[in-house]
Amino acid sequence: MTTQDLLTDAQNRAFNYISEAPNRRVFPTDRALDDLAALDEHLPEAGTDAADTLALLDRIGSPATVVSNGPNYYGFVVGGTLPVAQAADWLTSAWDQSATVPLAAPSAHAIETIAGRWVLDVLDLPRDAITNFGTTSGASAISYLAAARGRLLGRAGWNVERDGMNGAPRLRVILSERIHVTVIKALRLLGFGQDQLVRAPVDSSGRVDPARLPTMDHRTILCLQAGEVNTGEFDPFDRLVPRAKAAGAWVHVDGAFGLWARATQARKHLTKGIEGADSWTVDGHKWLNTPYDGAIAICRDSEALYAAMNADASYAPSNIDAPANKGLEFSRRARGIPIWAALRTLGRNGIDDMMSRHCDLARQLASELRANDFEILNSVQLNQVLARLDSDDKTRVLIEAAVGTGKVWFGPSSWEGRAAFRISITNWQTREEHIRELVGVLKAAKARVDDEVTVSR
Ligand SMILES: Cc1ncc(COP(=O)(O)O)c(C=O)c1O
Repeated sequence: MTTQDLLTDAQNRAFNYISEAPNRRVFPTDRALDDLAALDEHLPEAGTDAADTLALLDRIGSPATVVSNGPNYYGFVVGGTLPVAQAADWLTSAWDQSATVPLAAPSAHAIETIAGRWVLDVLDLPRDAITNFGTTSGASAISYLAAARGRLLGRAGWNVERDGMNGAPRLRVILSERIHVTVIKALRLLGFGQDQLVRAPVDSSGRVDPARLPTMDHRTILCLQAGEVNTGEFDPFDRLVPRAKAAGAWVHVDGAFGLWARATQARKHLTKGIEGADSWTVDGHKWLNTPYDGAIAICRDSEALYAAMNADASYAPSNIDAPANKGLEFSRRARGIPIWAALRTLGRNGIDDMMSRHCDLARQLASELRANDFEILNSVQLNQVLARLDSDDKTRVLIEAAVGTGKVWFGPSSWEGRAAFRISITNWQTREEHIRELVGVLKAAKARVDDEVTVSR
C-alpha cells in the first residue's frame, strides 16, 4: 500500500467514524469491550503490514470508544472536535513540527503567537500577558505556579531556581475548598504538602466566601476558580482579587472550562475582576471543541515565568519567548494550531453563539427536569446541570438506567455528601433536539426507578 493509499484509508475510516457519531451508541457494548482482547498480541518480531494495523485499530478500537466526539455525550465538561480543528490537527501532524524552538518550526511559532494574541483578545485578559499551549490545565498549572513560587520567594530574597526549596522561606498557599484536584497535584509537585495548603471556605454553590477568606500577605499564593466542576459557578473575583493584590499575593485562576464565559456577552459579568489575577489556565479541548491535548496557559509575569521554565541549551539557540522557555516540554507538537483554526473559523461571534447556546440549553434542561421532580442543585448559570433524585439509591440506579440505553452518556458525582449526576452541555453538535432526547431518556429512566422502588416495597 502506498503512503497515499494508507492516509486516504485512515481519512475514510475517520470520516465514517465522525459522520456516524451522532447515531452511534454512546457507551460501547460489552461485546466491543471484550473484543479489545484481540489487541493483546505479542510484540511482532517481524513487522506487519501497515494497512492491516490500521484496519485492526479501526475494527477493534472504534467500537470500543465512548463517543465523546458526538452530540449525545454530556460527561466531564469536554466537547468534541470541530471539523476545522480536526482538519488543522491532521495537517499539523503531517508537518510534524517541534513547536518549542522557533528556529525549527517557523510557521508553528508564528501561528501560535497569533493564536495566543487572539486568546487574550477573546477572553479580554491583559494583552501583554504571556501565553503558552500546554497539554492540559493541570500540567500548565505546574509551570505557572512555579513562576508564582519563584516570584514570591524572590521577593523574600530567595532564588528558588538556584537554591531549591530546602531552607526556603515558607510560602502560604490558600485555595478554594472546591479547587480542582489537578491544582493540588501541581502544588504537591512544587513542594507544597497537601496538609500545608490552607482551604478557603465556600458557600453552598461552591464559591469562595469573601467573608471567610483566610488572611493573605506578600508570601501568599491564592488559587481561585472560574467554573466549579459540578456547579459551573465562579468565585467572586471582584471581591477577592483586589484584596489579594493589596496584600501582595499572587492570584492563580483555574478556568479549565469556565474562563470561556468571558467570550460570551451574556455571561462575561460572571468573571468580573478575574482580569486582575496573575496567571490563568484554560483548555481548548473542553469548551472550545479542539482536540486533546490543547490547553492555554496565560501569565502576566514574563520574568518569573522565564526564570522558572528556562530550558535554553547550547545546541538549541532560542528566543527568550520560545515555548520551551514558557512551559514544561522541551519538544512538543504545535498544539496551538487547531486552536488557531477554531478561533479563526468561529470568530468572536461564533464562539459566543456556540457557548451561549450551550448555556441556554442547560437552562432549558434544568427547567424540564425540575418539572419532572428532579432536584436541581445548582443555579445553572453556565453549561452545567447538577441534579439528583430524592434518594442516593434512586440517583445511582437512574444514572445506570439512562446510560445503559446507550443513547446518552453522563457521569456520576456527589454533592454535599449525596449522590448526584452532572450534565455538561459542551459539544458543538448538541442542539435542542438532543436535549429533548436526553429529557426523554431521563424521564423514562426515572419512571423505571420509581416503579422498581414501588414494587420492592
Ligand atoms: C475545573 C477544572 N479544572 C481543571 C481541570 C483539569 O483539566 P485538564 O484535564 O486539562 O488538566 C478540569 C477537568 O475536568 C476541570 O473541570
